[in-house]
Order: sequence, then C-alpha cells, then structure tokens
Amino acid sequence: MRWILLISLATAASALSLNDRAKRNARYAALPADVKEENLQLLFASAMWRHGDRAPEHAVPGNDVDQFTEEDFTFGGGGYGELSPEGMSMHFNLGRKLKQRYITDFKILNKAYNAKEIYIRSTDYNRTLISAYSNVAGMFTGEGVVGQNFPDATLVPDWPAGYIPIPVHTVDYSTDYIGHPDANCPRQDELYELVQNSTEYQNYINDPQISQVLKYLTEATGAEVTIDNMYDLQDPIFCEGEHIAELNETGAHIEDFYPWFYAGDISTWVDHIVDTDEDFTNGLGNPGGVNGIDVSVEIPKIRAGDTLKMIVNHVHGALACRDNSTDASCRNFYKQLKYTALSAHDTTLAAFLTILGVKKYIIPSGYPSYSAAVLIEIYEDKVSETKDRYFKVLYHANKNEEEFKPITSFVKGCDPKSNLCNITVLDDLVAKYAPDVDVGTLCNTPVNPPTTTLPPTTTTNTVKDLPATTANTLPPTTSSISTLSLFSALSVILLTFSL
Ligand SMILES: *[C@@H]1O[C@H](CO)[C@@H](O)[C@H](O)[C@H]1NC(C)=O
Ligand SMILES: *[C@@H]1O[C@H](CO)[C@@H](O)[C@H](O)[C@H]1NC(C)=O
Ligand SMILES: *[C@@H]1O[C@H](CO)[C@@H](O)[C@H](O)[C@H]1NC(C)=O
Ligand SMILES: *[C@@H]1O[C@H](CO)[C@@H](O)[C@H](O)[C@H]1NC(C)=O
Ligand SMILES: *[C@@H]1O[C@H](CO)[C@@H](O)[C@H](O)[C@H]1NC(C)=O
Repeated sequence: MRWILLISLATAASALSLNDRAKRNARYAALPADVKEENLQLLFASAMWRHGDRAPEHAVPGNDVDQFTEEDFTFGGGGYGELSPEGMSMHFNLGRKLKQRYITDFKILNKAYNAKEIYIRSTDYNRTLISAYSNVAGMFTGEGVVGQNFPDATLVPDWPAGYIPIPVHTVDYSTDYIGHPDANCPRQDELYELVQNSTEYQNYINDPQISQVLKYLTEATGAEVTIDNMYDLQDPIFCEGEHIAELNETGAHIEDFYPWFYAGDISTWVDHIVDTDEDFTNGLGNPGGVNGIDVSVEIPKIRAGDTLKMIVNHVHGALACRDNSTDASCRNFYKQLKYTALSAHDTTLAAFLTILGVKKYIIPSGYPSYSAAVLIEIYEDKVSETKDRYFKVLYHANKNEEEFKPITSFVKGCDPKSNLCNITVLDDLVAKYAPDVDVGTLCNTPVNPPTTTLPPTTTTNTVKDLPATTANTLPPTTSSISTLSLFSALSVILLTFSL
C-alpha cells in the first residue's frame, strides 16, 4: 500500500504544482495596462480534448500475463479500446461546462444548435468519435427547437428527449496529421532514430537502474520490455485498475492481480520511464539538439504543426469575415463560425502543449488525463481604436476540474505577467512550427539526404545538416534533461520512504 500512497503523492504533487503556478500566475496575471476585462469581447473559441475513460487497447504483454480477456470489456460496443459509460459522462459533463462558458456566459453561440457556428472534428477512432458525440450532446441537448433541431415527439415518440444529432467530421487515421501525432511519417521515424542515437538517450537507457528495471520486467512478463514499449505494459494495467470493481466483484485490488508490477518501487519506475520516453518522443529530451538538428522544433512540427495551423487558419478565417463579410477573403465556411473542436488523444494534446511551450508547467510529467482539454480563445478590445486582438489559453485538467484555468502566461512568446497575449504570437508560433509544405510531403523529406546521392566518402560521419529552409540553427548549449534531476529526486524520496 505504501507504493500506492507514493504514487498518489506524486500525482498530487504535479496537480499542486499547477495550482500553485495558477495562484502565482493569478497574483501577477494582469491585463496590459490599458485593457479592461469588461471591454474584452470574445469572438471565437477552439477546443481540443482527450477522449474519456476507456478499455485497455490490448492485453498486458507476455504469455498469459493478463489476468483478464478482451471479452471482459463489454462496454462502449465491447472489446479493447472502447469508451466506457464513465468516459461518455466525462465528455457530456465537459460539454455542459463548455455550454456554460460559450452559450450562457459569453453568448457566442446560439442556444439551439446552429450548423454554421460550429465545426467538430475527431480522429477516426470509436472512442474519440463517441467522446465528441457525448460532448456536443452535453452542449446542446435540451435547448433545441422541436420540429427544427429534432423531430416532433408526436411523429417519433421514441426520440430521446431533447437529443440533437450533431455532425462530427473525421479523416482517415493513417494520414491524419492533425489529430494523430504518430500518423505514417518516415521523416519522424528518422528524427526519432536520431534521438535514439543521441548521447542523452543513450545515457538514459544505459543507466544501470533503468537496465535493471527493464530486465526485471522482461523476466516477469516473458515479453521483451524496452523503454519504447513500456507504455504498452503500463496502460493496460492502469485501465484494468480503473475498472477493477467491475472486473472482479470480490473487491480485489489491481495489485492482487499483478503483484510483480506493484512490487517495491517498480510501478513508479514504470511511470517515470514512460514519462521520459514521452519527452524524447516529443523532442524535449535533447535541448541541445542532435547533430546540429533542432529536434525540439523538427519533431513538434510533425506531431502538432498542422494542428496549430488548422486552428490558427480557423481563427483568421473567422476574423476576416468579421472584418468584412463581403470581401473575397471571407469564405462561406467562416461567415458565422465561432467554435471549433478537435476530439483526439493524450498524444495529440501532449504534442500541442509542447508547441505552445506549456507542457512542462501544466503536466511536468505524464500524459494529459481523460477528458483533459485545451481552449484557445480570441478576444477584441472593444474600445481600442485599432481593434486590438488577443488570445487566452485555458486548460481543463480532468473531470474534477470545475473551471478552465488560465495558462496564457506560460505560452512561449507571451507576457509572463499577463492573462492576455497579442494575437500575433499565434502567427509567430505558426511561422516557427507549422510546416511550409503539406505534412505528407514533409514526411517524405528525409532529414539526412539519402546515402545514394552522396559523393563517395571515406569519413564515418554520415549525418548531414538540413537544407537551409528547414534547418533550425541551435544555440551552442549543453543543458541536461530536467527529468533526470526529477528522477534522482524521486529516487531519493522512494529511498527515504522505503527505509
Ligand atoms: C471501432 O469500430 C470498428 C467497426 O466499425 C471496429 O472494427 C474497431 O475494432 C473498433 N475499435 C476501434 C478502436 O476503432
Ligand atoms: C543511428 O545509429 C546507427 C548505428 O550507428 C546508424 O546506422 C544510423 O544511421 C543512425 N541513425 C541516424 C538517423 O543517424
Ligand atoms: C476474483 O474473483 C473470483 C470470484 O469470482 C475470486 O475467486 C478470485 O479470487 C478473485 N481474484 C482475486 C485476485 O482476488
Ligand atoms: C469589404 O469588401 C468589399 C469587397 O472587396 C469592399 O468593396 C468594401 O469596401 C469592403 N468594406 C470595408 C468596410 O472594408
Ligand atoms: C501586437 O504585436 C504587433 C506586432 O508586434 C504590434 O504591431 C501590435 O501593436 C501589438 N498589439 C498590441 C495590442 O499590443
């Protein structure tokens, strides 16, 4: 039990750090001197969320290691990966919070669903699609007009009370560069190989303690456990743990089923390894770059560059129409568009928070929780003669969050003492992180020129810099990975507690 306590302590610590920062932020958070909150008018909002609670995606790796089977997961259509009723309610409730903000408080959306005002997109996964349906049901159910938003009960008596079907758009998953950071991309594979070859990564995996944990888990499961596939071990055990009361009605704990996983400080090491792997995956583990390539820009560009570009395009499209609805630059789609949403995954949010530069403040370790959400809001200072426009970023950490916390001051390029940020900062982020070409094309652009086109050489150095248009020059720095120090701190805590 001691170990569980420790983990909750670690989780509480990261939640606290957001609270503390939010408080500190609130202390300093001020509007620019001449802007008054009451003069700010919300013009447009964009949400991005992670789906709700779900079944594991697959069995715990190894021969007969999993204590349950796919058939044990009967909810959400049944089987691995599906959204649970708990996951549906998380999103219905988030939809209610969004309704409060955008329909009741700020009144940017019509109470009854208006097709021209909203655009909802999801990745092509059952659980993200159902999360989106549940979310918009929370936003609009009960406010529609009978005979307009849904059929008259005298004609269709069985229609669920007040339910309004709302369209959710999607695209093929394998090439969804907006919703799926791990969509097919040879260039990202190559960049990740560079990361794996880096001194930071090699030092990390060759750490004797890490090697020992990997060896222990490989022996315990009979499956080869590496830092790259550690998530595949952690996630199913976590998901089964969330549903253990349904899976075993005797009141047994998840620890009773996987004693080897919960032995000593193993599960804490697992969390740490998964979190560190996530940082390397997002290009955050090599602050000094690798072989002159700034992976902290090149990797996020692939993982979330198009996501940012889509949101900022929606913003500018809607603002162009607001400025002049008869001008050719105002496209029909944008004429009344006020709200867009993207229903996606923990990896999508993590990659997007990385681009904004807020990941380390908001979730210093680990992935965003079920139904975590990021909001981008565009405001205009009504009294400014120059129609000054700003944006705010807000975060909904999980289902227990009653309000959306302002995180604008953490965004790269924004004033750390202000709650508002100049809208041009969004364009700066696009300029830095959005690919100039279609991501599909970028993905087929090798980082290193193919060896066949290289002149014959006798040197062993095969790494070449990027062409000037895509290379990002790096300041000469040799900073270390901050998570490593966190890790040592964690080990000290664990050591102290286990005495
Ligand atoms: C979703 O539904 C399809 C059938 O439409 C099914 O084949 C698939 O396994 C389900 N799961 C996921 C995670 O998409
Ligand atoms: C990584 O290292 C291996 C072994 O030295 C090498 O074959 C490979 O080309 C390297 N990958 C990259 C992307 O530099
Ligand atoms: C799970 O439930 C069964 C009864 O259905 C019980 O026999 C078994 O011991 C339980 N498992 C654990 C690990 O407690
Ligand atoms: C809006 O655009 C139309 C067409 O380009 C132009 O004729 C008109 O002057 C513009 N209105 C304003 C207020 O800029
Ligand atoms: C926003 O930034 C742009 C470009 O730096 C600048 O021209 C503009 O005055 C700024 N707007 C406000 C309201 O500070």
